[in-house]
Amino acid sequence: MYKIAVLPCDGVGPEVVAEGLKVLQVACDKHEVQYETVEYDVGGDRYLRTGEVLPDSVMDELREMDAIYLGAVGHPDVPPGILEKGILLALRFELDQYINLRPVKLYPGVDTPLKDKGPEDIDFVVVRENTEGLYAGAGGAVRKGTPHEVATQTAIYTRMGTERCVRYAFELAGEREQKKLTLVDKANVLTYGHDLWTRAFAEVAEEYPDIETDHAYVDASCMWMVKNPEWFDVIVTCNLFGDIITDLGAMIQGGMGVAAGGNINPEGVSMFEPIHGSAPKYTGKNVICPIAAISAAGMMMEHLGEKEVGKAIDSAVAQALASGKLGDLSTRSGVKTTEAGDLVASLI
Ligand code: IPM
Ligand code: MN
Repeated sequence: MYKIAVLPCDGVGPEVVAEGLKVLQVACDKHEVQYETVEYDVGGDRYLRTGEVLPDSVMDELREMDAIYLGAVGHPDVPPGILEKGILLALRFELDQYINLRPVKLYPGVDTPLKDKGPEDIDFVVVRENTEGLYAGAGGAVRKGTPHEVATQTAIYTRMGTERCVRYAFELAGEREQKKLTLVDKANVLTYGHDLWTRAFAEVAEEYPDIETDHAYVDASCMWMVKNPEWFDVIVTCNLFGDIITDLGAMIQGGMGVAAGGNINPEGVSMFEPIHGSAPKYTGKNVICPIAAISAAGMMMEHLGEKEVGKAIDSAVAQALASGKLGDLSTRSGVKTTEAGDLVASLI
């Protein structure tokens, strides 16, 4: 009996999470996997009502869960940073979810804006370091608001944090067919931090002689992701670059509506979410594609060791996408969020 925490949070989060849970229920029933969900009311509305972001008591309960399923964070009436840092980043850091796993996979039947590229060309995974780098929150400001203002924002890279991320990526590459790992960085400019990455990567690589290694600067990687996405199998990169390139990745795999991810602590509690944001202007309109959230639920079950359930969800998603019944997956597709969820559930 798995205990799954559900944090629908803001904007369209609750709508897509409802569809993910709908599909999860059918898939788990079919494969006789039992779970219970505990829903937590956190997000912008609670913050505006009570001033609370993520109470310690909630954090303590989340530590005891088997997994966390999250919708989206961000509210138009709350200044940027409060909910992002207070909920999403707090969970990633506190639960030490040091891997952000983001598959970039074009399913058959899904349109990509890349001319002449198809599902055989776009199938890679980004392993984003998820607890350090420019996200670490190191920095400050003096003389704020004056012409003499000084602001610093420091990237923190630890050898331990880099190495465990790189090692996870090598292990993942070893499980895939192509067995190739590309380090994406900016070592030509970030000559301290990304020098650490370069050395950690090279040293760990010696333990994995069967994995082909490659390197690309992040700017060039953006070019290759568009020009030759088939060159990538697994990418490992720092927190900020991983954030940026996975939005590009989402576009080439068919849009934000299909891109799912997992915040993984291989030894602890992991959290699964669509990588899109809360899209406030579409809240309550029933127009957002829930496929990313549904796939995130599949990744969660796969991670929990319920391979059959994970596979069932993934193949139902693949069939739904191939059926053409989901339109162009955009908010203008004419397909309702709930209809898309019903379709996937019916295909389990
Ligand atoms: C993501 C998001 C978050 C991030 C934001 C909401 C803090 O963009 O999960 O990619 O930057 O990591
Ligand atoms: Mn992002």
